[in-house]
Amino acid sequence: MSSVGVARVYRGTFAHSTRDAALRVFTDFVLGLNVQGKIAFFEEGQNVESLSHQWGFEMSDIEQLGPHEFFIPGMVDTHIHASQYTYSGTHLDLPLLDWLKIYTFPVESLYEDLDFAKDVYTKVVKRTLCNGTTTACYFATIHTDASLLLGQIADDFGQRALIGKVCMDRNTMVPDYKELTEGCKEETDRFIHELLKKKYALVKPVVTPRFAISCSSSLLSNLGKIAKEYNLHVQSHISENKQEVQFVKELFPDCTSYTDVYVKHGLLTDKTVMAHGCYLTDEELKIFHEKGAAVSHCPSSNISLISGMLNVRNILKHNVKLGLGTDVAGGYSSSMLDTIRRAVDTSKALCLQDDQLKPLSYKEAFRLATLGGSEVLSLDDCTGNFDVGKDFDALRVNICVPGSPIDLFPGDDPEVILEKFLNLGDDRNIVEVYVAGKQVVPFPASS
Ligand code: GUN
Ligand code: ZN
Repeated sequence: MSSVGVARVYRGTFAHSTRDAALRVFTDFVLGLNVQGKIAFFEEGQNVESLSHQWGFEMSDIEQLGPHEFFIPGMVDTHIHASQYTYSGTHLDLPLLDWLKIYTFPVESLYEDLDFAKDVYTKVVKRTLCNGTTTACYFATIHTDASLLLGQIADDFGQRALIGKVCMDRNTMVPDYKELTEGCKEETDRFIHELLKKKYALVKPVVTPRFAISCSSSLLSNLGKIAKEYNLHVQSHISENKQEVQFVKELFPDCTSYTDVYVKHGLLTDKTVMAHGCYLTDEELKIFHEKGAAVSHCPSSNISLISGMLNVRNILKHNVKLGLGTDVAGGYSSSMLDTIRRAVDTSKALCLQDDQLKPLSYKEAFRLATLGGSEVLSLDDCTGNFDVGKDFDALRVNICVPGSPIDLFPGDDPEVILEKFLNLGDDRNIVEVYVAGKQVVPFPASS
């Protein structure tokens, strides 16, 4: 493009969420990207002439979207176990604690082997990008080098990612899969140092105590100190399953609640994301709100492991930041579209128990998967929607690709078409994926 001001200009239909609206659809809009991959302008198509003078582009430079195409913001998976991807879609017949012992920990112990790790982590990053996940908040395993490799692979493929080396020093239930408290602390330090040293633009470390059951008080305190010292994100699990909540009570008799365990160890901050939260009380949610901590709703996993059903209305009522997570592989699918559907279904199932409850709409679920996720990860200053100044993290969706699972009918307006995509679409419809303005799907020929 001849201009100095913008690197690319698109014209057509766009849809996103804002702070006040779950869904806004813009037909015939123009969006310009600067050379840093940030959104320079986003305006009505009728302003295109004056925009071309202001930004110095030619009409022939504009890329016009097709009649069945639109852009939406990239989706944010706020909770995914990259290491569990090998068995996603299987092993869903045990409750959480047995599931961890029988299936999960034995598989996670294999990541000492870096060739194995490279193969799986490459597959999971590619798969999630194709599914439209532009940002992922990953759990790896206890292995530092394999966790660093996941960071490198996310960077290689251009995915925005938070990477967690998992920390656990007790109740691992499998002899080959545990760390000593001191070793875990040292390895966490090494992981953070080495990942930060790489200076990846979009990949950062996240402090990752697995959950209160598998971490001693001493380890939790150390991790709280590390998170504070480096001003890092924190991720963990909370109140997913009743048996788990009871066990935590027994392990931490001096704490008033599961939330209090994390508070007492300095792990509940405004950069914390806790997965599940099905059994959080109103008092605990008040603390989440006060601290600015977030919940990752993982409906697919909650149902598959028969863990619980999160009442999202109650989370939102307490003004707690809320996003969606696939929770691969407790969740069987790595697709955020599937997660949107499970979130809506779960809230409808809860309405069967309480007819005063309002179900989550597809628009609200879309917001949780995009802007909500960015808020959860404190990335909403640069991602989550098409506000001017943000990075262009976006999916180009085409409803009419060959083999599309979606059929259109006369009168299907853009809002209906988006609803059909969210409920029926899949990666075939996601024809291009952009992260920070760079096209990352389709992959470059060399990968
Ligand atoms: N709680 C602690 N670890 C895990 C895990 O790997 N998956 C799920 N769903 N819950 C957990
Ligand atoms: Zn999880």
